[in-house]
Amino acid sequence: MPQPLLSVERLQSRIDELAAAVDRDYAGKNLLVVCVLKGSYIFTADLSRRLTVPHEIDFIAVSSYGDSTTSSGKVEVTQDLQHEVEGRHLLIVEDIVETGTTIRFLLDVLRRRRPASIRIISLLKKEGVEEEDLPHVDYVGFTIPPVFVVGYGLDYAERYRHLPYVASLPGADEVERGEP
Ligand code: PRP
Repeated sequence: MPQPLLSVERLQSRIDELAAAVDRDYAGKNLLVVCVLKGSYIFTADLSRRLTVPHEIDFIAVSSYGDSTTSSGKVEVTQDLQHEVEGRHLLIVEDIVETGTTIRFLLDVLRRRRPASIRIISLLKKEGVEEEDLPHVDYVGFTIPPVFVVGYGLDYAERYRHLPYVASLPGADEVERGEP
């Protein structure tokens, strides 16, 4: 069973702070918010509703590990953006950065399209990965212990995305690896 880790109140108050920081940094800029499907759909919606800077939203889907809980290291774009990004200021919205594989891949793909700038915002960042192995994440909501988490957009085999809070799911990693 999921064990609550970050309450609705903590999430919402931290998103207020994140939105205020984004508002400050993007005043007068041509902001394109890039929601990385599926996990960041709820965070993107909550963040967007708090932003006062004008912005557009687009969606990109990447597949990295399917239903598994461990990274295969392989990533591909399964649904691309509709907007041209050349000359735009991009804010990539992630729900979680774990190994950094997804964000590294997205930065590589999107930089080739010559945006004016790219920043990353992630609601969660997992402890336990060496900082030098990760791309810089410009805005981080919460740093969490290295446990498997679900809720607020994050899934376990497509379940639990709808939970309004973030929860740990004890044993999920072991089940996926076939350990007792
Ligand atoms: C999850 C999450 C991030 C990525 C983070 O996506 O939403 O995009 O993994 O892990 P990494 O830093 O190790 O790459 P997932 O592939 O589970 O797809 P989903 O968002 O559709 O659930």
